Amino acid sequence: TAESTRELLLSRIRDVADYPKPGVMFKDITPLLADPVAFTALTDALAELCVRHGATKIVGLEARGFILAAPVAVRAGLGFIPVRKAGKLPGATLGQAYELEYGTAEIEVHAEDLSADDRVMVIDDVLATGGTAGASLELIRRAGASVAGVSVLMELGFLAGREALAPHLRGAPLEAL
Ligand code: PRP
Repeated sequence: TAESTRELLLSRIRDVADYPKPGVMFKDITPLLADPVAFTALTDALAELCVRHGATKIVGLEARGFILAAPVAVRAGLGFIPVRKAGKLPGATLGQAYELEYGTAEIEVHAEDLSADDRVMVIDDVLATGGTAGASLELIRRAGASVAGVSVLMELGFLAGREALAPHLRGAPLEAL
């Protein structure tokens, strides 16, 4: 059931205090990745969301998002498109800057990987402030594609990423397992 999957996934996420800096409780997914039963359950649940929302392509967000999105793409029988931190993709790219707590960051996608025929599901491990996911949705639309939704393993509710992401979602679903 969804509830037993949720319990399994939660049990495999390790809280690491004061990482990467004092006062931050880091959510470490490496125990989940190392457990084939949990990793398969996560992959299956995310792939089910992709099918349910009619996705035709999967975008993964560097770097931990890649680990989740790639097996989901294979499971769902869909293509995988990497959205990378600026400067990592060799071809013609579209870039999108977004705000960090201090300063800005930029992500890129290969422009030729997305077209008007595509309906894209964005997959990542964590929705925190929502900045990265929001920028990825802008990239997808600027590439001419439409958005099937955003699906993440976990959402840090106290950072209000859901609220920040809402204007970028424009009604598309955000789901956190
Ligand atoms: C983390 C996480 C998300 C993003 C969420 O990635 O994997 O991609 O931050 O934060 P936000 O909602 O505030 O934008 P990070 O940049 O730490 O990179 P990594 O996956 O390469 O470690």
